[in-house]
Amino acid sequence: MDRRTALKILASGFFSVSAADRLSALEKLFPEELSRSQFGTEFLWGVATSAYQVEGAWNTDGRGLSIWDQFSQSEGNIKTGQNGNTACDFYHRYPEDIAITNDLNFQAFRFSLSWPRILPSGRSPVNQKGVDFYNRVIDECLHKGLEPWITLFHWDLPQDLEDRGGWRNRDIIEWFSDYARVCADAFGDRVKNWMVLNEPFAFTALGYLLGMHAPGAYGMKNFLPAAHHAAMCQSAGGRILREYVKDARIGTTQSIVIVDPRTQDPADLEAAKRSDALLNRLFIEASLGMGYPVNDLPVLSGIEKYMQGDDAELLKFGFDFIGIQNYTRVVVKHGSIVPWLKGMPVSPKKRHVSPVTEMGWEVYPEGIYRALKYYAKYPVRDIYVTENGAAFKDIPEDGRVHDPERTRFFKAYLESVLRAKNEGVNVKGYFVWSFLDNFEWAEGYRPRFGLVYVDFKSQERIIKDSGYWFREFLSPGK
Ligand code: FCB
Repeated sequence: MDRRTALKILASGFFSVSAADRLSALEKLFPEELSRSQFGTEFLWGVATSAYQVEGAWNTDGRGLSIWDQFSQSEGNIKTGQNGNTACDFYHRYPEDIAITNDLNFQAFRFSLSWPRILPSGRSPVNQKGVDFYNRVIDECLHKGLEPWITLFHWDLPQDLEDRGGWRNRDIIEWFSDYARVCADAFGDRVKNWMVLNEPFAFTALGYLLGMHAPGAYGMKNFLPAAHHAAMCQSAGGRILREYVKDARIGTTQSIVIVDPRTQDPADLEAAKRSDALLNRLFIEASLGMGYPVNDLPVLSGIEKYMQGDDAELLKFGFDFIGIQNYTRVVVKHGSIVPWLKGMPVSPKKRHVSPVTEMGWEVYPEGIYRALKYYAKYPVRDIYVTENGAAFKDIPEDGRVHDPERTRFFKAYLESVLRAKNEGVNVKGYFVWSFLDNFEWAEGYRPRFGLVYVDFKSQERIIKDSGYWFREFLSPGK
C-alpha cells in the first residue's frame, strides 16, 4: 500500500471535516520523507568546485599568476592571512576526489578551468601542461561515469590581463573569446555541459565596486565598465561554445538572493526594488535582450558610456540553461549612506533570526523556492541549481565529522526545490556547494562548505555525515 492510500484510509476515520482537509492535515502530521525518486529519474545530482578554491599548485607546470594569487598573497586582503597556494591540492589529488564523488552516488562533477593555467599570460601561447591536467580530470570523471560540467571562468583572471585593466578594458571581450575557443577546442569532444561565467554580479561587485575581492578595485567608475564587459563576455562565450562544441548544452550561472523590504513602508519597498535590480537582474536581463534595469536603478545608466555599436544586440544569447546559485536572503531598509542605492541590509542578528551559518547568512530554505519561481518568470529554458550549501563549524571526532545542521540545511532546501519543481518550474538538477572544504576567497579556509572535510595540513579527506546522507539519499533505487 502506498503512503497516500494509507493516509486516505486513516483520513476516512474522521467525519467532521471534508476528506481533502483531513488528508492535508494528516500529510502535515506525517510529512513524507524526502526521496530522490520524488525529483524524477531525469533530475541530475552533482557537486561543485572551482579552480582557485581547490587546485593549489599555483606555480606548477607553467601556470601563470592570477589576480587571486596576487590578492591573497598581499597582506591584509584575506581575513585569515591565508592564500590558495596549496588549497586542497586537487591538482595532485583529483583521482581520489573524483572517486569519492562517485562513491557518494553523484552523477556530475562541476569544476572550473583556471585561465592562467591554460594561457599563463591570459593570451596565447597555450600551456600544454595546463591543458593536459584538465584532460586528466575530464578523463577521470568519464572513467568513473561522472559527467564533467565545466565553468570557463570562476574568478581567477590572469594577472597580466588585470595589469591591462582586466574587466574594465573592453579588449577583454577579445581575450575571453580567444580563451573560450582554446577551451572548446581542447575539451569539447568530451565535455558537453558548459557554463560561461560564475556569478558575474559577485565578481564584478566584490572585485570592482567594493574592493573586497581580487583585484581589490572599487567605485562606480570601475564597476560599470567591468559589469558591461562581463555581460558582453557572457554572451560572447556562449556564441563561441555554440560554434565550436558539437551538441553542447550551454549555460551560465547567476547568484540570486531574494530581497525583502524590512517594512511595507514605501521607502523600504523602493530600497528593496533598487537592491533587487542590482543584485539579481543585471546580468540575466542583459542576456535576455531586456537591457539593463536602468528604470529601477538609475545609476546603471552610467553603463551607456561603455556601450558601442551593436552591443545591445550582442548582449543577447539564447542559453540552453541558467544555473542559479542561492544561499540566503537579504532584508533591506531605506538608508542614505550609499547615495545611489539608498538602501542597506538589516543583518540577521538585528532581525533576531536564527539559525545563521558560519558566513553569518540566514538559513532561509524558502528562498530557493522563491528564487526558482523568480527565474521561471523569465523566458529561460532549463534551470539548474548550480550551487547551494552552507558553512558550519565542523570538528572531526574519531575519524568522523558530525554535521547535523548541514544535513538539515540540505533537506530543507531540497524540499523547497521540489516544491518549485512540482509547481512546474523547469529545474533539471542540483549541485552541492561544495564537494570539499576549500579556500573561501576573502574569508580564507575558516568557513567549511564541504560534504567532505579537508585537513589542510595533512590533506586528509573525511566524508562528513552530510556526505553520507547524500550517499544514502542518492543510492540507486531510492
Ligand atoms: C559563491 C561562489 C563560490 C563560493 C560560494 C560560497 O558565490 O560562487 O565560489 O564561494 O559562494
